[in-house]
Amino acid sequence: MATESKTEVGSYFISNYPPFSQWSAEALDDVRAALHAPPLTPPGSSEPAPLGLYLHIPFCRKRCKFCYFRVYTDKRADDVETYVSALSHEIELVSKLEVMGGRPFRFVYFGGGTPSFLSGKQLTKLVDRLRANINWDHAEEVTFECEPGTLSEPKVATLRELGVTRLSLGVENFSDAVLEENGRAHLSPEVYKAWDWIRAAGFPNVNIDLIAGMVGETWDNWKDCIKKTIALDPESVTIYQMELPFNTVYSKDILGNQIETPVADWPLKRAWVDYAFDELAAAGYSVSSGYTMVKDKSKVNFSYRDNLWHGSDLLATGVASFGHASGVHYQNEPDWAGYVGRLEQGELPLHRGMKPTPHQLLVREMILQLKKGWLDAGYFKRKFGVDILDHWRGEFQQHADDELLTIDADGVKLTRKGLLRVDGMLPAFFEPEHRGVRYT
Ligand SMILES: C[S@@+](CC[C@H](N)C(=O)[O-])C[C@H]1O[C@@H](n2cnc3c(N)ncnc32)[C@H](O)[C@@H]1O
Ligand code: SF4
Repeated sequence: MATESKTEVGSYFISNYPPFSQWSAEALDDVRAALHAPPLTPPGSSEPAPLGLYLHIPFCRKRCKFCYFRVYTDKRADDVETYVSALSHEIELVSKLEVMGGRPFRFVYFGGGTPSFLSGKQLTKLVDRLRANINWDHAEEVTFECEPGTLSEPKVATLRELGVTRLSLGVENFSDAVLEENGRAHLSPEVYKAWDWIRAAGFPNVNIDLIAGMVGETWDNWKDCIKKTIALDPESVTIYQMELPFNTVYSKDILGNQIETPVADWPLKRAWVDYAFDELAAAGYSVSSGYTMVKDKSKVNFSYRDNLWHGSDLLATGVASFGHASGVHYQNEPDWAGYVGRLEQGELPLHRGMKPTPHQLLVREMILQLKKGWLDAGYFKRKFGVDILDHWRGEFQQHADDELLTIDADGVKLTRKGLLRVDGMLPAFFEPEHRGVRYT
């Protein structure tokens, strides 16, 4: 989170509220109660919340030195088989939960780790097994995250056949020296090879992920990366500012050897994103959040993000994954043995949870939607019965005085300055007891 100028170890990306550190096993009764009851209809709505499915595929070819996700790089084909069986079993259990309530999945997200680590054969087998219990025929979006070097022409074609509509490609950078330094498994030629196959397969929506502030980044190289990204003409571009959470290889190295952070400071990373947003805007893209620019707002929506940020239900499957059902948060078993073992016992692998208060659900939606760059006060009035402009008058005014946003009768709108540091603005809206606590 961007409060200090230096990129220190312990920075993080806000993706939920209350902070994960506040979740516990004690809340699992609340989680089970939510999962084993029909879905709730949110206030102000006439139908149950939309339903999404997240599937975590935790394998990668190599651990990137900056990555903080739960990933395994040492698993063999029989381990992958074990995992795929456990995941299929979990989906079978999930599909029978009362909270499904006959709802079709509106969106599906294969995230990781690296879902594209699975071979075409493993993928087809997984999807066949999943389809015995669920389908995503009516989903408006099926996202699949890919690492360029794991793709092949037949695998890309298989993904399209399996119904993937949004392919997200972890390009991160175009310089082979930078990619190598940061421990990426792929180099730039693999991006170009994969790109031809992806375009030939005709996905409606292809996203490129970049990171501003990889170790070794320079202005010249960054400009070149943006030029090359625009030349590929993706439907959307997502740019993360490099974070150093505690559990990355770089973080451990910095703490263990007491060395200076090798990552550019926050003002420079923001300047790089600012430059990228300007260049993408000049190429016809528009802002869709503090991280994402899209080519055509009317065609390219991001259903997973938008539904999640509006309080949809998300059934989480896979090791360590995070879900949300009928207003209750939960996380699955965070390690392999626990996850596989619980499923072998025929149980859902629930690990910890939290039942937020109605006010905490309001904070959650408010801070997540602020990441899009604007807030519709009417939405919060209808859903939570709260006038957010009045409720957080002081906080919004402070941000306005700092030129991070503007306020009018309908809501607030972030300035570019605010958009570039939106994660740093959010703790001001946390409840006081959550401001000083560790986030994860
Ligand atoms: C699960 S990965 C995407 C798929 C695939 N594993 C890959 O890396 O190509 C999600 C994205 O998180 C971003 N990311 C990972 N670690 C990060 C960090 N420390 N700071 C900022 N972004 C990070 C990267 O842009 C990455 O593409
Ligand atoms: S950034 Fe992607 S490829 Fe790298 S370790 Fe993390 S999940 Fe795996």
